[in-house]
Amino acid sequence: MAKTMQGSPAQRAQQALTNLNDSVQGSQAWNSIFRPGSIFRKGYSDSPRNRSYVIMNSVLYHLHPVKVKRHAVKVSYTLCLGGLSFFIFILLTVTGIFLMFFYRPTAVNAWDDIYALQTSVTFGLLVRNMHRWGAHLMVLSVFLHMARVFYHGAYKAPREFNWVIGVILLTLTLLLSFTGYLLPWDQLALWAVTVGTNMMGYTPVLGGQVRFVLLGGAEIGTDTLLRWYVLHVLFFPFIIVIFMAIHFWRVRKDGGISGPL
Ligand code: HEM
Repeated sequence: MAKTMQGSPAQRAQQALTNLNDSVQGSQAWNSIFRPGSIFRKGYSDSPRNRSYVIMNSVLYHLHPVKVKRHAVKVSYTLCLGGLSFFIFILLTVTGIFLMFFYRPTAVNAWDDIYALQTSVTFGLLVRNMHRWGAHLMVLSVFLHMARVFYHGAYKAPREFNWVIGVILLTLTLLLSFTGYLLPWDQLALWAVTVGTNMMGYTPVLGGQVRFVLLGGAEIGTDTLLRWYVLHVLFFPFIIVIFMAIHFWRVRKDGGISGPL
């Protein structure tokens, strides 16, 4: 019920605003969007129970745990290296999508497209360099993150499973890095992949077949480029996102970040 207007024009305007706010926040539509415990809901009181509701009832907040241990948010404990690896991955995804607009994975076009990207596309050189340096940085940060986890003994029970997921993540990071290496189709890429696939050719028993599958033919060429492109922009990113989701889920289920020993 709106209160009667009294006092100076400023007070009346303020009263009108308060009434409007009350009627909006008390409406059925508002309450159907903002669930019990929401700080946007009328009558919210800051209690431990309501704080939990705020986190549990929001799509975005519920990605965070309801409670976080003090040491877990101390930057000097994790150095945020896992978070940094994830951030770089997002950066690589965004810059990678930009690059896809200007790149065709064929032996005839690939190198010219990269050259044109650097010389004729606005911010092309910057975005390409962000993608390339980002790739190097991600390998480094994932490795350092692993070293941090090892140093803290965070691989021990109950986190052994997450360590194994981590090893898969490291492998996928390296595979993403290596498949991206061929795409500029320059001398460096060509010979690095020639050396790499020749080494795989020495796999016992199945060497020839492994090399054939990796190259998409008897020797490195357009088919190799297409194959590695699809692995780089679709297959490995898809798989790594699934494993990252499992990794983050396990951090939560294993009781958050490990404590100091
Ligand atoms: C794409 C690569 C990876 C991403 C994005 C990632 C992300 C994360 C994040 C965000 C955390 C939370 C704590 C922190 O930031 O340090 C974490 C924890 C953890 N990660 Fe990773 N990680 C990756 C690779 C790895 C690798 C290579 C290993 C080990 C082989 C690993 C093992 C673990 C373990 C055991 C924890 C729990 C640590 C604790 O409780 O102190 N992760 N990871």
